[in-house]
Parts: sequence; structure tokens; C-alpha cells
Amino acid sequence: GFSWTLPDHPKLPKGKPVAVVVLDGWGEANADQYNCIHVAQTPVMDSLKNVITGAPEKWRLVKAHGTAVGLPSDDDMGNSEVGHNALGAGRIFAQGAKLVDQALASGKIYEGDGFNYIKESFENGTLHLIGLLSDGGVHSRLDQLQLLLKGASERGAKRIRVHILTDGRDVLDGSSVGFVETLENDLSQLREKGIDAQIASGGGRMYVTMDRYENDWDVVKRGWDAQVLGEAPYKFKSALEAVKTLRAEPKANDQYLPPFVIVDDSGKAVGPVLDGDAVVTINFRADRMVMLAKALEYADFDKFDRVRVPKIRYAGMLQYDGELKLPSRYLVSPPEIERTSGEYLVKNGIRTFACRQATVKRLNRINSHFLFHETVKFGHVTFFWNGNRSGYFDETKEEYIEVPSDSGITFNVAPKMKALEIAEKARDALLSGKFDQVRVNLPNGDMVGHTGDIEATVVACKAADEAVKIILDAVEQVGGIYLVTADHGNAEDMVKRNKAGKPLLDKNGGIQILTSHTLQPVPVAIGGPGLHPGVKFRTDIQTPGLANVAATVMNLHGFEAPADYEPTLIEVADN
Ligand code: 3PG
Ligand code: CO
Repeated sequence: GFSWTLPDHPKLPKGKPVAVVVLDGWGEANADQYNCIHVAQTPVMDSLKNVITGAPEKWRLVKAHGTAVGLPSDDDMGNSEVGHNALGAGRIFAQGAKLVDQALASGKIYEGDGFNYIKESFENGTLHLIGLLSDGGVHSRLDQLQLLLKGASERGAKRIRVHILTDGRDVLDGSSVGFVETLENDLSQLREKGIDAQIASGGGRMYVTMDRYENDWDVVKRGWDAQVLGEAPYKFKSALEAVKTLRAEPKANDQYLPPFVIVDDSGKAVGPVLDGDAVVTINFRADRMVMLAKALEYADFDKFDRVRVPKIRYAGMLQYDGELKLPSRYLVSPPEIERTSGEYLVKNGIRTFACRQATVKRLNRINSHFLFHETVKFGHVTFFWNGNRSGYFDETKEEYIEVPSDSGITFNVAPKMKALEIAEKARDALLSGKFDQVRVNLPNGDMVGHTGDIEATVVACKAADEAVKIILDAVEQVGGIYLVTADHGNAEDMVKRNKAGKPLLDKNGGIQILTSHTLQPVPVAIGGPGLHPGVKFRTDIQTPGLANVAATVMNLHGFEAPADYEPTLIEVADN
């Protein structure tokens, strides 16, 4: 029968503190001027790679994109959700993007409880689709929206309103115009078939709706006002006009467009959400939809004044939070990521300490899991790591600490972010001697990389490297072990390239800045005084990916991994 008990590793000891460091957006790529990690002073990460500190077997690359992390194809870049899912779960699960593709292709999406539920509104109400409009494939995909529009209209939706969020983060800045054109074209074809279909509102994803981890509810409120109440500071006759006009403002970009509503000739919003309507949030990825899902679903809600709470039928593209069961209705079942490494380790008696806020109570618990990251990445080494599950497996053994982010700024203004603070907390946790695992996410390479500001990203990479040093120094002091890796690439390539790898120029001769993630592999480095001297990377695993890390970490804690986990990256030579 099934047992949570992990077998002892035959050769590796227990009781060594393990620091697991996830550098966000830190891939390996050719060294050139657009590789910010290369340009930046990163002596610590360089030393791990050049293995000044250890045997040559202790640094290697693993895949962090495409099928290695459960995405539909190897053309899909990695992202934090799928990357941390794989790191924590130790297996490759078909991810939201792929599950939605399959459900749409088979038509099963239209047979499920979720679709049948919203369908009841089609006769007398409007179907509202809210989500990110791009082909980035990280949170949503345009082609899935197109198929859903077609499928819903063929199944009785007579009045459809789309509430768009422009991207520019997972795709090139400025691409919003083309996506709006494509969508407008589809909607006009639906209108020719007698369906009243229109874009009703919009805004840039980072300023409207798609906040995460309860960082800034104002972002969600701006969206609510436009989408649900039909109120926004900008009013336009068409979404194309809206996006073109708002982008023409100085410093405007797709990520941060202000909220707008589309109005009819009499100036009235064309698509507020009303009693009896259906709403689908079309993103498959959870983190940036959870807050809106709460606003749409919860009767008791005090995060902002919703003003008017329409009686709607609401479904998510997926269920976004398996622990909260949020939303309760959804079109496609999420991947069932269970038996994650975090749950196993807690259940194997590892003492755990965690603390939600560094300044408040519960500071004196014995603990082994000590988790740090900035608010904007809060859920990455917890929620994503634990299989899109909020909360603790065992509250008496875990506490998750948060270092608050600067809010209200874009991270190119403060590219060091809170890397130092995160590292210091991790250091203190290690030095306290109470923790078996200290797990951190250092967000700089990713969060600053997404701004497209190359100079700032160089500063960001240096700051992340300095943070790694603080943590590795503490590992050294306590005789522990480190495993340093990344969830996906970003900062190592900041320019859009052609197939031959040459930077692409825009029409003014400037380079096309790549704000998105990449397809690059990421490093895994292990070491530290607590590492058994016989440990080295196996050579018999051909193309390992992030999912191979979980078994590796379990080994470093002195356990064998469960049999169905992807194999460990390490072996232990006899000495
Ligand atoms: C975001 O949500 O910020 C980006 O779309 C993806 O970035 P992440 O996967 O690194 O969070
Ligand atoms: Co990112």
C-alpha cells in the first residue's frame, strides 16, 4: 500500500541543512551584450559554473521549457508556474496550457459541468470573457480564446463581451495592436452570423486585473470598475482605437495601459456585467487570476468596494486554487499535482519553521522549511512549489515568510529589489540552526528582465549574485549543502532574435527588446561543506529537466525519492 515514509538514502546522511536557491529568470545563453547575466558582475554564479569551489561534476544545465515542464511543445518558453511546479513536484504534469488545448480539441470542454453551468445564462444573459490577450502561452493563449468564442457561440451564446488585458510581457511590447485586430476580426465574423459580440473593456495586465499574491488590490479594482461596472477613466468607440491612442502617450506600453471601456454612440458602456450574465476568466494560469476570482465569487469580500455585485454564473478556465477550491466552477480540470516533495518532506518528520511576516509572532517555532521571496514572487516557492496549493501541509511544521516588495513602482527603478533582505533572512534562518531546508526565490533577473530595461537588468543580476553569496556563506558556516538553480530563462537574453540568433531590428533601426522568458536551459549547482564528497552528477540521464531536482533535494536531505519521481541528478561514488 501507499506510504508517505521515504526510504533512507543508502549513502547520504540526514541532518545537513539544505539551502535551495531559485534564481528567477536566470538561464544559460551565449555571452553577448544582450546577455545581462554575462554583462553583470556575477562572481559567485561564475565560480559555481567554473567550479572553482568544487569538483567539475557539480554544475550542469537542465531543461526549463516546453515538454520538460509539461507545456504543449518545445516552442513554449518556461515560466514560473510550470518551473516551480516541476521543481517541487518532481514529476512532469501536463500543464494548464496543454490541458485546455486537449479539452478544446476533443470538445470535452463543452461537455463538462463548468460549461453547462455558464450555458444556462446564454438564453437571457451575456457571456463575458475576461483575460490576457496574447499568444504568450504563459497565462492564456489567443487561439484558445478564439476556439472558445466559436464553440460558445455555436452552443447558444448570443451576446458576448470580451474584456481584454494587453500583454507586452510574455510577448513583444506593441504586439497588443495586432492581437486586438485579430480579435476584432473574429468578433466581426461572429456579428455577421447574428451574434452580438464585442470587446467591452481593456487595460494593461500589470495595471489592470492581473496582480498576484494580494500585492495590490487597486489593480484588481481598476479592472472590476471597467469590466463589471463599465466605468473607466478612458472611453473609446473601439478597442483598436483605445490601444492605439493609449500607446501613443509618452512612456506608454502594453503592460501598463490604463483601463478603458468601450462605449456606444450615446456614450454608454457596451458591456458591464449584469445580473443573469455568465463570466469566464480565460487564463489557465492561476497566480494572476486568483484575486479577480475571489472578487467574482466570494459573497463576503472586503478587499475593495465592489459597489455592485451582479448575480452571475462564473467559471474559471481552470480551477486556480486547489486548496481554496477557487473558483468552484471551471471549464477544464487543473493538473492534479499531488504528493509534492514539500508534502513528503514534512511528513517525514522534518522540523519546520515558517513565519508569514518577519515582524509578527510565531517566531520561536522549531522549523525546517524556511521560505523567502518577495511579495511579488510570494507564491512561487510555496504555492507553485506545493502544486498550486495555498496554505501549509502541516501548520505546526511550516511557516512561510514574506519580505514585502516596494509597491507602486516598476522594478527597473529599483532593480536590486529586496534580494539583500531575502538573503539576510535566509542567512539568519540557516545560522539559527533550526531549519533543515531554507528555500528562496531571488526574483531580480525575472522581474527586472520583464521591464525590458537592459541596464537595470544588469544591476538586477549583480544583486541576485550578491544575495547568493550571502546564502552560500551561511551554508559554509553551518556545514550545510546548497542547490542553486533557476525556474526559467529571462535575463540571459534581452533581444528578439531571428532563427540564426541574430538580433532583430525594429523599423527605426533599434533592437527589439525581449521582455519575455526564453527557451534557454538553466543551471543546477550543488555543493557546500555538508555535501558528501562522493556526490557527483550522473551522466546516464540524457536530457534532465527541472523535475529531476526534487529527487535530488530529497537525496540531499538523506532520503530516497518516491519511485515515480523523475530520477535524481546525483549519484554517490564509493570512497
Ligand atoms: C508574469 O506573470 O509576470 C509573467 O507573465 C511570467 O513571469 P513568471 O512566470 O516569471 O512569473
Ligand atoms: Co517572469
